Amino acid sequence: MANPLKKRYLLIFFITALITVGITLLLVNIFEKKQEANLYPSVFKPVGDHETDPKVWGENFPFEYDTYKKTETNEGATQYGGSDNYQKLEKYPNLIQLFAGYPFSKDYREERGHYWAITDVKETKRVNEKTPNTCISCKSSQVLVDVEKMGTEAFYKAMFKDVGAHYDKGIGCLDCHNPKTMELRVSRPAFIEAMQRRGIDVTKASREQMRSYVCGQCHVEYYFKGDGKYLTFPWDKGLEVDSIEKYYDEYGFKDWDHETSGAPMIKMQHPEFETWSTGIHAKSGVTCVDCHMPYERMGSVKVTNHWIKSPLRNINNACQTCHKWSEGELANRVKTIQDRTYETMYKSELAILDAINTIKKAKDGGATDEQLKEARKLHRRAQLRWDFVAAENSMGFHSPQQTLKTLADAIDYARQSQLEAERLMKSVAVK
Ligand code: HEC
Ligand code: HEC
Ligand code: HEC
Ligand code: HEC
Repeated sequence: MANPLKKRYLLIFFITALITVGITLLLVNIFEKKQEANLYPSVFKPVGDHETDPKVWGENFPFEYDTYKKTETNEGATQYGGSDNYQKLEKYPNLIQLFAGYPFSKDYREERGHYWAITDVKETKRVNEKTPNTCISCKSSQVLVDVEKMGTEAFYKAMFKDVGAHYDKGIGCLDCHNPKTMELRVSRPAFIEAMQRRGIDVTKASREQMRSYVCGQCHVEYYFKGDGKYLTFPWDKGLEVDSIEKYYDEYGFKDWDHETSGAPMIKMQHPEFETWSTGIHAKSGVTCVDCHMPYERMGSVKVTNHWIKSPLRNINNACQTCHKWSEGELANRVKTIQDRTYETMYKSELAILDAINTIKKAKDGGATDEQLKEARKLHRRAQLRWDFVAAENSMGFHSPQQTLKTLADAIDYARQSQLEAERLMKSVAVK
């Protein structure tokens, strides 16, 4: 039976609830507007063309500056990455034999945040009196100022101890942004030149392309060309490891002679851009920035988080915008890919070590350099592939299938090298 009093109470209850919701929404809205107003100051202070101090830029863009500064934070290691600059030679002792005769067998640290780039290059035992200035190219925004002042060739030709060693700023706003317009820019000549040789005009890049190019100017494989130590990306034949090897073979390039096997070796350097470009995410238009600098909501605006780091520390913003899987599931997918890569990589290391030691035995047994040529060539081929994966910083995640193929080829070449050395040992012993 309807009770008029009960009806009236219900009505009052609903009206009160509506008013409460209304007031809450209004407050949220005011709060968001306030946050937006706080995000950027109302007066823009122009930044000079050579402003290398992120703090000065930060006066205009406090959110970006605050998050950029966090690249100083050490959140500890993830299973295969993270911001802890631990000594890799302790965690992976095979590296000492694999890099025998090369400075990477003396000091090889895990990378960390951009803030540290200048400190870490000055501290590594790999630099010395004879280090060319080229090695500072991707470590500091002060590079841009001196490249303009000195000219690109003279900049590379100089010695690190005379130029780069005196820098005090790491990677900063100037490396990625045009100070007048704040647009993304590629500031490093080597990337522009390498793309030009492949028929790509970087100045015509779309915004989406720029969201990977801006990282690709540093996170790549490179070498120092000729006596001028001219920084060059080996991309003329393509970005896959097979094309890069062909390029180096034709040019007759080597970084060092392996101390144990005597093979002419190539050291690969962090080929993130190349690896990413062969993967499913690149093919689907997903850029470095989508995962490593995801948007954050500040009130009703979206801003770019400048705390560049391992996406495993930020799965919610880095992956869940596109993938509806749970955080645990996403972490697990990454772990599965990385563990499979690591296990296969480890097997390739053992195969390469077998090749190295068998070549040494053949040599000690009397095989000549001429006879050992083929086994050494195969050692080089195996190890540059292993290193293309080992020096890349995602442990296979950036391109899982291509990475496993690269490792399969590495194992194959290593065992071929070992077989060839064994064959030699027998033939030398018979004589
Ligand atoms: C689909 C997401 C995604 C894209 C796109 C992506 N990455 Fe990554 N990246 C990852 C994940 C996941 C890891 C593994 C992190 C770990 O092991 O802690 C990683 C690792 C890295 C690392 C090592 C981080 C560390 O903590 O040691 C670097 C450097 C890196 N990526 C650079 C790049 C660059 C440069 C690009 C573009 C050319 C790119 N990434 C594109 C997801 C992505
Ligand atoms: C001017 C060169 C340069 C540019 C441009 C650059 N990086 Fe880096 N990046 C570096 C260097 C050098 C390090 C290693 C610093 C160290 O270990 O001291 C690094 C480290 C990193 C790391 C590891 C961070 C950690 O906490 O372990 C990630 C991830 C990364 N970069 C991603 C990117 C992405 C994404 C972009 C593009 C938006 C980019 N980088 C642009 C040179 C660069
Ligand atoms: C490693 C490269 C890199 C560095 C260093 C860097 N930025 Fe950015 N910044 C980006 C990228 C990538 C975007 C996204 C641009 C896009 O998608 O068009 C961005 C966007 C921005 C934007 C546009 C608003 C937003 O948040 O999306 C501002 C403002 C900005 N950055 C300021 C700064 C300031 C200030 C610094 C130095 C403290 C800085 N950036 C350092 C790469 C960088
Ligand atoms: C901007 C959107 C976007 C972001 C951000 C993104 N992904 Fe993806 N991801 C895709 C697309 C698109 C594919 C291709 C498959 C598809 O169409 O579903 C894909 C595929 C994958 C696959 C399947 C790969 C394979 O080889 O089959 C995995 C695993 C994955 N993503 C994990 C991640 C993780 C982990 C992150 C965060 C670090 C992430 N993704 C960030 C869009 C994204």
